[in-house]
Amino acid sequence: MAKLKLKLNENVEGNYFVDSTCIDCSACRRFAPSTFGDGDEFAFVKEQPETKIEIHTANQALLSCPTASIGTVDKIDLNSAKDSFPMELVPGIYINGFNKKDSYGADSYFIQSDSGNWMIDSPRFIQHLVQKIEQLGGLDYIFLTHRDDVADAHLFAKHFQAKRIIHQLDSSAQKDAEIILQGEEDLSIGPGRIIFTPGHTAGHQVLLWNERYLFTGDHFAWLRRLKRWGSFSDACWDSWEKQIGSVKKLKMLKNVEWVFPGHGNRGEIQRGKFPDIIDDAVVWMETI
Ligand SMILES: [Fe+2]
Repeated sequence: MAKLKLKLNENVEGNYFVDSTCIDCSACRRFAPSTFGDGDEFAFVKEQPETKIEIHTANQALLSCPTASIGTVDKIDLNSAKDSFPMELVPGIYINGFNKKDSYGADSYFIQSDSGNWMIDSPRFIQHLVQKIEQLGGLDYIFLTHRDDVADAHLFAKHFQAKRIIHQLDSSAQKDAEIILQGEEDLSIGPGRIIFTPGHTAGHQVLLWNERYLFTGDHFAWLRRLKRWGSFSDACWDSWEKQIGSVKKLKMLKNVEWVFPGHGNRGEIQRGKFPDIIDDAVVWMETI
């Protein structure tokens, strides 16, 4: 739990606060952008939540903070926020919450589908999520975008007898994964199409679901500070040149309607505009 004695001075006065254990992963700003602000390598409470929805999203952020750096002066009831996870974003696509420190607070997702349920990257393995996923029909596949965001995937795989999918070049993070992909070819499993996108890491992959929903891991996102779509040049562990090439590859995905990243902001795409977004991102990335 966050400690009042470690409360950051930047917090506005009131019930909610962030303490100095914050790692600036941005998860809180994605769940509750009206409450949490952007400090110099930390988040802080820029405005105390007041409305019902502001309080609900602040509580979701509190539960999803991977370092338990968000606290309240007075005791609050978190049951409603807890019960909201996994939270449905669009029909059949959920965000899990409960982000894990091991994956630097990356968001993870759940897909409910007649052709099998998927998890994309992993949240913390907690009983609440396990029970909710059981109610949603369990798990068949756990798609791991890359080595950084595997978190508790092995525990979910064991519990649900699910198959973890990771590329061989990133498989040191899950050596015993059930499906280890090799090479650069796309692979389709039901409505899921796995696309090899090296750059951030050597074995990064993204998942296109039903042609419309793109799960991008740490490959491509809405960059909040820069207010644009693109990749993280300051978090490119393999090759920026390869990264640009892998972003270019996404131009073929003409029907993308939503981008769901691990880090960076998720966002809806105007129908038919994704290739233009990719072109614009590549032009910008080539200037870096
Ligand atoms: Fe990463």
